Amino acid sequence: MTTGPLEGVTDSGGTVGKLAVHADGPVIQTQALTKRYRSDVTALDGLTVSVAPGITGLIGANGAGKSTLIKILLGLLEPTTGRAMVFGIDCGRHGEQIRTLIGYMPEHDCLPPDVTATEFVTHMGRMSGLPATSAKERAAESLRHVGLHEERYRLVGTYSTGMKQRVKLAQALVGDPRLLLLDEPTNGLDPAGRSEMLDLISRIGTEFGISIVVASHLLGEIERICDHIVAIEAGRLLRADTITSFTGASRMLRVEVDEGIQALEDELARRGLSPRRQQRSILVPLVGDATFDAIRDALADLRAPLSRLELSRHSVEELFRESAGAQAPGQPDLVTTEVPDVR
Ligand SMILES: Nc1ncnc2c1ncn2[C@@H]1O[C@H](COP(=O)(O)OP(=O)(O)OP(=O)(O)O)[C@@H](O)[C@H]1O
Ligand SMILES: [Mg+2]
Repeated sequence: MTTGPLEGVTDSGGTVGKLAVHADGPVIQTQALTKRYRSDVTALDGLTVSVAPGITGLIGANGAGKSTLIKILLGLLEPTTGRAMVFGIDCGRHGEQIRTLIGYMPEHDCLPPDVTATEFVTHMGRMSGLPATSAKERAAESLRHVGLHEERYRLVGTYSTGMKQRVKLAQALVGDPRLLLLDEPTNGLDPAGRSEMLDLISRIGTEFGISIVVASHLLGEIERICDHIVAIEAGRLLRADTITSFTGASRMLRVEVDEGIQALEDELARRGLSPRRQQRSILVPLVGDATFDAIRDALADLRAPLSRLELSRHSVEELFRESAGAQAPGQPDLVTTEVPDVR
């Protein structure tokens, strides 16, 4: 939730208090960020990542460290070691200033049941430093934006889960933030509600032109609205990439032959493809029509009897496993829990 004064923030860069806001560089940067809650719980483990402007999916299984990272970015939790910065400002040292730039939607239900949505969001606007009249106006705008205009005078306690999630989003927006940190915004919603919430988040990103981080354990669910993905597991970075390279890498051709699989694998490699054996199949990254041509020619040259050729997707878990291996050679396998793939 936004707290603190808003003065000093200008549209492009500018300052907050006496601190320069670097709007042109990465929105978020962490360097070897580690958080231990007790000596035996390491929630973040040397996480180094940089988040560009746009909508970023923060993906990880339960307990991966998503909420911990968000709270450190808000300056609400202190890292054990390492650093985190938002717009170039150190989160550990300048939490109060940073919170004036961020709208935060917490993971858990945290709404007071016995006030109206208007009262609550106006109050949060006041908390973020807005004068009374502006807070009221901004609250009305935010509630309209999330589709709660008609219902804004109802007590929050009478709202459905979907409406409560929207109030949480409205209060995150009310202080006119530069960055939104949304912790599992689709929690508790049915499939239609999830889809509407994601559309709403996507529209906010486009219309307000602000950066958004959306934490989720379902990559398949949020990938359609994201420009970038940061995947973490057990507090470590699995992969940070643009969504196109994530989904692009997932296009694979599965080739199966009745006999001579080793010879075919060798031949495909000789033709410059990157074949990989998976039990009785060969997986070949699909680059374009040339991939089909090369497979056809290899089969013809070897007179290999083709039994199956199909487009297959990497499972998300496979992608994670590969990138974990690539980024941390010699390290133990980082993927120990399943990240569900709902596609
Ligand atoms: N206050 C705390 N005290 C002790 N351990 C904690 C605390 N908060 C989180 N943890 C532990 O730190 C790890 C990371 O938790 P975190 O809540 O950041 O994960 P998450 O990715 O947000 O998970 P979820 O998807 O379940 O929300 C977990 O092992 C969790 O049990
Ligand atoms: Mg969490």
